[in-house]
Amino acid sequence: MSGFLGSTVGKKYIMGITGLIWAGFVLAHMAGNLLIFVSSDAYNAYGHALTSGNLIYVAETVLVLALITHVFCAISLTKNNREAKQSRYAVSAKGQKRVSLASRTMAVQGSLILAFVILHIITFKYGTYYETTVNGVVMRDLARLMVEVFQSPAYVVWYLVCLILLGFHLTHGVGSTFQSLGLMNGSYRDGLRKLSLTYGVVVALGFIAQPLYLFIIH
Ligand code: HEM
Repeated sequence: MSGFLGSTVGKKYIMGITGLIWAGFVLAHMAGNLLIFVSSDAYNAYGHALTSGNLIYVAETVLVLALITHVFCAISLTKNNREAKQSRYAVSAKGQKRVSLASRTMAVQGSLILAFVILHIITFKYGTYYETTVNGVVMRDLARLMVEVFQSPAYVVWYLVCLILLGFHLTHGVGSTFQSLGLMNGSYRDGLRKLSLTYGVVVALGFIAQPLYLFIIH
């Protein structure tokens, strides 16, 4: 890649935009999943409606392309960062900018979240195909699979760890995107910081509530 898109700033832009696509998806996914608190039928009918049309293929293609691009830019930026550090800061300088733990561990968080997403798709999308009938329509019983999966304490703990990490990753990622877009200065700064934090906490807690609820009530 050459030119602006190949530059560090260009790659940060691309990471921000592809990250925001996923940020929108996870918020919608979390909100839709809350239907599990209404009833199994409501949850299954929602899943059935989403997967019945062709729109799902468009959404899946956009998500996969966004994820590949996001990971590709992340690897490239991490490599550049390491090289720059080795040549310029062999000895860590005093008074270096303090960087938060969330920021320094973005690559590790991202790798774990990627592993989580792959296992998650194998577990649910390609998991056992139970069937149910809602209002006379035969459809997949995803609620039954969810209840079954979250009977295992190990699964619940794995989800909790990954969802907490996701909360950090989203908070920091959304904040960095605002920064890359040049919005983190002036009067917006505090408001955008709070927005990133609120967003990360809402998504993480909304998701965490689901395995916990299913584990406790069943
Ligand atoms: C408590 C947490 C979560 C639960 C209970 C949950 C549940 C589900 C279920 C049941 C499906 C299957 C949908 C279907 O095939 O019709 C699914 C698909 C998926 N989930 Fe999750 N999910 C959770 C968290 C997440 C998170 C945190 C991410 C991403 C970071 C994620 C990404 C995906 C993706 C990419 C798919 C595939 C969507 C597609 O078919 O295109 N999920 N999830």
